[in-house]
Amino acid sequence: MTAFNNYTPRDNNPDGDKMSAIFVIFGGTGDLTHRKLMPAFYNMLLDGLLPVRFMVVSVGRRDLSEDEYRRQVYASIDRYSRNKPDDKAWSVLKDMIHYYKLDFTDLTGYHEFNGYLDKIDREAGIGGSRVFYLAVAPEYFETIVQGLKASGMHKPEGGFGRLVIEKPFGKDLVTAKKLNKELLKAFDESSIYRIDHYLGKEMIQNIMVLRFCNSIFEAIWNNKFIDNIQISLTEKLGVGTRQGYYENSGAMRDMVQNHIMQILTLVAMEPPVNLKTDSIRTEKLKVMEAIEDISPEFLRENVVFGQYGPGVIDGLPVPGYRQEPDVPVDSGTETFVALKLHINNFRWAGTPFYIRTGKRLARGSSEIVVQFKDLPNILYLKDRDFREPNLLVLRIQPGVGVYFQFNVRDFSTHNGIMSTKMDTSHVDAGQGNTPKAYERLIYDILKGDNTLFSRWDEVEAAWTVADRIITYREQKKHNFPNYDAGSMGPVRAFELLARDGRSWWNGGMI
Ligand code: BG6
Repeated sequence: MTAFNNYTPRDNNPDGDKMSAIFVIFGGTGDLTHRKLMPAFYNMLLDGLLPVRFMVVSVGRRDLSEDEYRRQVYASIDRYSRNKPDDKAWSVLKDMIHYYKLDFTDLTGYHEFNGYLDKIDREAGIGGSRVFYLAVAPEYFETIVQGLKASGMHKPEGGFGRLVIEKPFGKDLVTAKKLNKELLKAFDESSIYRIDHYLGKEMIQNIMVLRFCNSIFEAIWNNKFIDNIQISLTEKLGVGTRQGYYENSGAMRDMVQNHIMQILTLVAMEPPVNLKTDSIRTEKLKVMEAIEDISPEFLRENVVFGQYGPGVIDGLPVPGYRQEPDVPVDSGTETFVALKLHINNFRWAGTPFYIRTGKRLARGSSEIVVQFKDLPNILYLKDRDFREPNLLVLRIQPGVGVYFQFNVRDFSTHNGIMSTKMDTSHVDAGQGNTPKAYERLIYDILKGDNTLFSRWDEVEAAWTVADRIITYREQKKHNFPNYDAGSMGPVRAFELLARDGRSWWNGGMI
């Protein structure tokens, strides 16, 4: 709902008073700010979800007047927001947006900046609270936090001080630990919000509701009834303009260590004792700790890395990864990973989890497929080829919702059986990498709810798993490229399941 004429923040947002804050964005001229954060603020404003008193201060190194910066923000909202700017709403948001020029590597500038924030705070009657959002390259995270600490900004008087960190949170366990140690010198764990934008997506939040609010699912959510679970996050897009980042990251660091691990834990976790943040996070952590030891021998059989070569997507030719600008011609970076994992606890032992993510694939979608075990070959199934299992599919994007596949009588034949779907999903293009997830996450940050953010021990456990797989990848020579853009990945990714007598659902080999 976005009827701006009825815009009354307090009506929609009962927490609006407590959330009042200055939202400081380091990296205010960057892509993330323009594509995600500003459109998110705009939509939150329309939906009455911004705090009662709210100011945004964008920090950048460029010389820009406030007017110029606001014009750029307007253009970004016009381009990226799901609601286009309307004059009345924009005139409200415009006055909340400020630009401050600061070289954030120069620690001497932070004191003056603090004075500037205090002035804005006094004028707007904010009451002291600050959110510091680090939308900058990761090499600046520690420096900025040092600057905040040196100037005393991290613990504002009279309000809260929260730190928001974008990924990547380190590039492996060692660097993540070092970064975390630095952050903890200035902020408590409970004031650190490690963003994983997947957790802001509707269907991801729906996983727990679906599991723990439906007796029919919870009773059969285990290895006695479930044959295997597949988590597929596939993209048509390539690396875009992010080669510099992606070349040092690859699909493991970009998608598996964070988004996929988070989804896996939500799908596999035990019911928490209550819905408090820490109770949920503790159950999620236990899943990662129960992942079967990932030895090189295990990985040899159970992981497939891929890199795309040239191909055709939606009828248009696209270059291979190694032909993208600034990518070394012999790059060994993986743009695709398929992996089989076992979670060794009483609920899941024996039920494999298959994971797949990749760029430049034929199909762009994020889905979780739960395949139930087959019935014995008796009664209706005796002597028939018909082998359609029951499937529960959680569609994250672009379809959003759930469908359940089950078997019924095929009335067009004498005694045939056919599978049918009960489908609650609808297509929502807004679920892609858009501001929508950010709206929810920003709201939670301002409200002080960190349930949808990762606690340090979760990040640590995810790196422990990811590091082993990355090390294995780095030690092995790969025959890249090994899949065409526009296909569904390397042949070996299909063999991984075929060996177990299974296949990927939704998006077979193309
Ligand atoms: C980001 C990755 O975290 O997620 C990108 O860095 C990826 O490489 C993106 O494209 C996918 O997000 P979404 O929301 O479009 O599925």
